[in-house]
Amino acid sequence: MSERYVWKEAFALGIPELDAEHHAFLDLLNSVAEAADRAESEKMRLAVSDLRTYAQIHFAHEEQFLKVAACPELPRQQVEHALYVERLNELEQMPDAGFHAALEFARSWLVDHILGSDKQCAAWLHASDVQVPYPLT
Ligand SMILES: [Fe+2]
Ligand SMILES: [Fe+2]
Repeated sequence: MSERYVWKEAFALGIPELDAEHHAFLDLLNSVAEAADRAESEKMRLAVSDLRTYAQIHFAHEEQFLKVAACPELPRQQVEHALYVERLNELEQMPDAGFHAALEFARSWLVDHILGSDKQCAAWLHASDVQVPYPLT
């Protein structure tokens, strides 16, 4: 049984829209883990597909924030985000035997990415005077 990932204040970027999206991202990862714990092969993959769709929406929003703020970290974020979507594509195709290990990678990547790259970019956004229009499209 995998542990559930719970939202922690340490994950907060102080940007409400992105924080809400990260929270939902963790919930979707937990849905994949729940299906995997029940060994529901088809549901696991459907949950990964939902997660990938959400990841692409979130990454586009985040990149839009960084573009508006002219954040120099944007290219690195774009590369990391694209690689993560690739990992999710692989996870969806992963045989059951390798699924748990690949899922653990996907979960730890998200937390590391929020605490690393996203926090670094949030500091840039807070320091810039740019007003990002809400809602993002
Ligand atoms: Fe990011
Ligand atoms: Fe993010």
